[in-house]
Amino acid sequence: MSTAAASPLFDRVLAGAGPGSRLLDVGCGAGRLLADAAAAGLAVTGVDTEPRALAAAERAAPGADLRVADAHELPFADDAFDLVTLVQVLEHLPNPVLALRGAGRVCAPSGAVRATVWGTPTSATPPSSARRSPRSPGPRPRLRRTTPGPTAAASVRPR
Ligand SMILES: C[S@@+](CC[C@H](N)C(=O)[O-])C[C@H]1O[C@@H](n2cnc3c(N)ncnc32)[C@H](O)[C@@H]1O
Repeated sequence: MSTAAASPLFDRVLAGAGPGSRLLDVGCGAGRLLADAAAAGLAVTGVDTEPRALAAAERAAPGADLRVADAHELPFADDAFDLVTLVQVLEHLPNPVLALRGAGRVCAPSGAVRATVWGTPTSATPPSSARRSPRSPGPRPRLRRTTPGPTAAASVRPR
């Protein structure tokens, strides 16, 4: 996919999501990723617990579906999105595994969940490398590291 993403990180996070793809950005903050994704033609939804961040996201990505919601309790139906992203959010959550399971639930089977955390691939440890789906019961989701560089990133297969 060719996106209008302003940062290499966002480009990697949005890779492969074409126009019309349904994106949910969890912990969207001021909406920078949403703005890039909307410019690339994606249908964008963002959630955050911080209303002021969502007000900024509204300015950055007018027309985005923005909701105050907790990453641990996503208010969406199963399989509602093609791409679910958590950019620099997992490290702020009391229960990142629960959040990843929720992300997997709302992501279509053919879609992807992508999460990034601060650090380098050698210094940052994703929440798990165990071979489990975030949708399945058990303690750990399956993560696949996808992005070398200043931010450690992982992609999770919803099923
Ligand atoms: C470091 S910021 C990253 C913002 C954005 N993803 C970006 O890359 O610019 C972390 C964001 O996670 C949000 N956040 C923290 N806890 C959350 C939760 N339980 N559910 C949803 N969002 C949360 C914060 O309000 C903040 O906007």
